[in-house]
Amino acid sequence: MVDAARSLTKDSSLTRDSEKAAARVGLRSGEIVIHGGKPLNGSIRLRGAKNLVTKAMVAALLADTRSVLQDVPTLSEIGVVTGMLNAYGVEVAAPEDGVLVLDPTNVERAQFHEIDALAGSSRIPILFCGPLLHRLGEALIPDLGGCRIGDRPIDFHLNALRAFGAVVDKSYEGIRITAPDGLRGTNIELPYPSVGATEQVLLTAVRASGVTELKNAAIEPEIMDLIAILQKMGAIIWMEPNRTIFIEGVDQLTGYEHRAIFDRNEAASWAAAALATGGDITVLGARQPELMTFLNVFRKAGGAFQVQEDGIRFWHPGGHLKPVQVETDVHPGFMTDWQQPLIVALTQAHGTSIVHETVYENRFGFTDALIEMGADIVVHQDGVASVTRRVPRRRLEQAAVITGPTPLHGADVTVPDLRGGFSYLIAALAASGTSTVSNLGIISRGYEHFIEKLSALGADFVYEG
Ligand code: EPU
Repeated sequence: MVDAARSLTKDSSLTRDSEKAAARVGLRSGEIVIHGGKPLNGSIRLRGAKNLVTKAMVAALLADTRSVLQDVPTLSEIGVVTGMLNAYGVEVAAPEDGVLVLDPTNVERAQFHEIDALAGSSRIPILFCGPLLHRLGEALIPDLGGCRIGDRPIDFHLNALRAFGAVVDKSYEGIRITAPDGLRGTNIELPYPSVGATEQVLLTAVRASGVTELKNAAIEPEIMDLIAILQKMGAIIWMEPNRTIFIEGVDQLTGYEHRAIFDRNEAASWAAAALATGGDITVLGARQPELMTFLNVFRKAGGAFQVQEDGIRFWHPGGHLKPVQVETDVHPGFMTDWQQPLIVALTQAHGTSIVHETVYENRFGFTDALIEMGADIVVHQDGVASVTRRVPRRRLEQAAVITGPTPLHGADVTVPDLRGGFSYLIAALAASGTSTVSNLGIISRGYEHFIEKLSALGADFVYEG
C-alpha cells in the first residue's frame, strides 16, 4: 500500500544530467540551486486540480462499481489518498499516464496504523468520514496533516456529521465516528463557506436518507466539479442563490468517468512567475472563467494576458509593474492560494501594495524569506485599518504591505508550505545571484513535474531529488 503511494510520489522527471550536476555541487536531497535573474519563457501544460482530484478519489468510495478519473497529475498528495483508499480495500490502478481507475467493490476495514502512517501529511482523510460511514458504519480519523498555515480546525466537519446523526468519539488515537441509527438528511448552515466542510456535507448527504439543505456553502469551481461527478454517479443535487445547496439522498451510487477540472492555483502560480521574472509563459489547459478574479488583479498589477483556444498566455509587457490592493476571499473572490506567488511579483511594482489575508490566520510566514532576499514587506497582524475593507466579517485580518520595487538577491531558503514554497522558487528565479531552496518535497504535493517545467521554461538550476 505504501509502495503504491511512493510510486505516485516519485517525480519521474529527473534527468541524468541534473543528477550529475547536483552531485558535483554537493546538493542534498530535496534541494535546488537556482541561478536567477533570467526571464522564464515557453509553455507548460496543466493537469487536473489537486483540490478536486483528491476529493474525486474519495467520492469513488461511495460507488459500488469502478470509477475512471482523467487528467490526474503526479503529486505526492495523490499518493497519500491512493494509500488511504488501498488501506480500505479500494483498488487503484493507473493504466496510463494521467488516468486512475478506482475499484471500490471490496471495501473493508483498515488497520488504524496503516491510515495513521499516511494521514499525518494530508487534510483529505477527514473527507473519508461520510463514505466510510455509509460503507462500513464507522470512520477512524487520525491526526491530520496539511500545510501549517493556521489552526485548521475541523469543528465544521464534526458538527455537520453530528447533524446527520453520527456519533463522534475522541480518543488518544484520533477520532472515531459511528452512525448507529444510519445517516439522515438535515439542515446545516456553515459558520463560514468552508471548502472542506462543504465537501464533507456533499459526500455524506448523497447517500443519507431524505433531503439535506446546506446554507452558506462554498461554491469554488472544484466544488462544482465534485457536484458534477456526484451527479454522474446518480446523486440528486441542486443549488439556489445565496450559497444554498440541496442534496436528496439516494440508496445507491455507481462509478463515474470524469476529466478533472484544471488546476487554477498552478495556473496563477506560473502567471506570477512570468510577471516576476519579466517572462512570457503560456499555461496550456488554463481557462478564463475560473480565473477571472485573478486575471483582473494580474492586469491591474501591469501584467498582460491573452486567452487562447487551449490555454492562457501570461507575460510582462515591459514598463513598470503597478501596486495593487487585494483581499483573499472564498470564490468568486481572490483565492488565498494566489497571494503568495503574486506577492513576489508585487515586490517589483512601483509603489505600495496591500494584501489582506481573510481565509487563514497565519499565511504570511513565508514573507520572512522574501525579506531576507531584499523585499520590503511588513506584516500587520491586525490588518491595515485605514484601508476600506470589502470583507470586514472575519477577525483573521493579517495584512502584508509590500513596497517596491526592491531588487531581490539570492539566499538559502527552506520551503515552509506548498504555496509559500512555490513563491520561493519564483523569488529565486527573479533574484540576482544564486539561491538554494530546500525542502522541495512539500512543493511536489501540489505542483506536478515542476522541475521539468522549470527546465522547459529555460530556468538555470541544478536539482537533487
Ligand atoms: N475552518 C474552520 N473549521 C473547520 C473548517 C475550516 O474554522 O471545520 C476555517 C479554516 O481554519 C480556515 C477557513 O475555515 O480559516 C477556510 O478553510 P476551508 O475549509 O475552506 O479550507 P480547506 O478545505 O481546509 C481547501 C484547500 C486549500 C485552500 C482552501 C481555501 C484542499 C485540500 N485544500 O482547504 O488549499 O487554501 O480550501 O480555498 O482542498 C493548498 O492547496 O495549498 C491549500 C491549502
